[in-house]
Amino acid sequence: MKNLLLTLLLGGIFVISGCKTKEKSVFSIIPRPLEMKKETGKFVIDGNTVIVVDKNSPEIKNIADYFSDQFNIVSGVRLSVKEDAPDGAKVIILTKKGADPKLGKEGYELIVHNDLIKLRAEDETGLFWAVQSLFQLLPVQIYAKEETTIKEWVVAGAYIKDKPRFKWRGMHLDVCRHMFPVEFIKKYIDYLAMHKLNIFHWHLTEDQGWRIEIKKYPKLTSIGAYRDSTLVGHANKSDKYDGKRYGGFYTQDEVREIVKYAADRYITVVPEIEMPGHSVAALTAYPELSCTGGPFHVRTTWGISKDIYCAGNDSVFAFLEDVLTEVMELFPSKVIHIGGDEAPKDRWEKCSKCQKRIKDESLEDEHELQSYFITRIEKFLNSNGRHMIGWDEILEGGLAPNAAVMSWRGIKGGIAAARQNHEVVMTPSDYCYFNDYQNDPDVEPLAIGGFITTEMVYNYEPIPDELNDEQAKYILGAQGNVWTEYIYTPEDVEYMTLPRMCALAEVVWTNKELKDFDDFSKRLSKQYLRLEQIGSTFFVSGIKGVDKRNVFIDKKIVKLTGNFSESKIYYTLDGSEPDINSILYAAPFEISGPVVLKAKEYINRKSPGRMLIATFDKETPKQGV
Ligand code: ACM
Ligand code: ZN
Repeated sequence: MKNLLLTLLLGGIFVISGCKTKEKSVFSIIPRPLEMKKETGKFVIDGNTVIVVDKNSPEIKNIADYFSDQFNIVSGVRLSVKEDAPDGAKVIILTKKGADPKLGKEGYELIVHNDLIKLRAEDETGLFWAVQSLFQLLPVQIYAKEETTIKEWVVAGAYIKDKPRFKWRGMHLDVCRHMFPVEFIKKYIDYLAMHKLNIFHWHLTEDQGWRIEIKKYPKLTSIGAYRDSTLVGHANKSDKYDGKRYGGFYTQDEVREIVKYAADRYITVVPEIEMPGHSVAALTAYPELSCTGGPFHVRTTWGISKDIYCAGNDSVFAFLEDVLTEVMELFPSKVIHIGGDEAPKDRWEKCSKCQKRIKDESLEDEHELQSYFITRIEKFLNSNGRHMIGWDEILEGGLAPNAAVMSWRGIKGGIAAARQNHEVVMTPSDYCYFNDYQNDPDVEPLAIGGFITTEMVYNYEPIPDELNDEQAKYILGAQGNVWTEYIYTPEDVEYMTLPRMCALAEVVWTNKELKDFDDFSKRLSKQYLRLEQIGSTFFVSGIKGVDKRNVFIDKKIVKLTGNFSESKIYYTLDGSEPDINSILYAAPFEISGPVVLKAKEYINRKSPGRMLIATFDKETPKQGV
């Protein structure tokens, strides 16, 4: 008995010391850096501050200007950028000198003392990420779009040492189902930069619209960029159409502008040109590239089309090589995405040219024909010095020799590819599809389906347990996808991606051992304040504390909880919609009669969350029988 007690006691001590609590973040930076320490002192950025950059480094000068431009917008003060520190000046130094090579190209150190801020990195990329962290040490108004009333731009003493966990930290955007203006694409890229995400996967061609100008094939945009009508409501339930012509495309000049905008933020734009499926817009413009000859119409509803490029027709490959040639001229990305998903084989089974190809190439079946198609395109990309990536269907019928795989139908494709020593980007639809519902569908705008909360994204681990250490090296990282069938406006894109993008940033940047959802949530409340400065639309879950329907006998105490320590809750009990002139919630209160409670949470002037509507009904106890 004594021994048992002792064992239990020792076991208890072991458990207590074994479950070491994680250190809390000392600064509200997202994604959480590798190492953060508070130091004594503080630095106040003002008109006397000079930014000092390494001699003869135009790239570092550009990063300094990027910081200085934003500081100028919010403060009205223009900081000068120099190559030498003037005597006695307070300086912000951006330098490669003395950088720790162990931090790699994207790592950095950020040191804040009384008269010095130093950003140090081996490469400009790390310096750019260091600036993002510096923004997050400043008051949230640093993200504002106009001059603010902040008088003192204080940065607390700090030492930060940081580097990313993964090298592919991606966000995707489908601009085909719905299209978004160039200005918004830039704003989206700014969100990536803010979260140290470095890949913008731009989904440019689809059944419902071809969105990139290709000079050699003008009909791709004059015909393929427009649909005659669009489904209203959900494809599973609705057969109503709006009857309105919808479309547009990005000119090559606009594409160049976006690629440069991203490159200035150390973000690579990976273009996706879909093949052999999801190509009805192209087939509408050039029906001779199909198996049947058409005619086709740019699709007006969502889902998968049986009409795909013909794999037996050499002019299809000539066309795609021409398109990819123009794409490669526009996008310096080493990696080009060729789609490859959801290509039904119905047409190929019936097409004499496709069947002849199967015979001539001694292929087993239509899956091997898909592999032939993709491998032929890969050869072309490789001969132009580029790598190919495709959705995990490209594994079917045999993976092209050098292709990377984007695992979306769960993680199986990623595991299979890594086991074959192929690079993998993880984007499983159960965790990384930011077009899915993030809350009760009853209170959310129409979405495609699914259910993925910020916490589910946060807890996603890109390296599957099934892989050994050697195979795990093939996992390049992870990515959030945003398919826009039910996402109509830039505000909708923001609403669906924020804050799930913030959670993803921590999945791909932060050391696994440092991840802690509670700690992240606290930092997220600060991130919301930054997003508010930017003028973002974002999702917050509703006010908590009461059910939608409440039945009580005598009285009910209502205790409401918002999402942020900085927010205020206003409510009404007379059925009217609350605003900042309504009753301010200060403490739990009592309800003793039947009422409808409506409440809204405000951060500063805005109410980003959804209104809480709760009914309270009084029940009279019935006489016992
Ligand atoms: C996909 O979601 N069809 C890649
Ligand atoms: Zn065919």
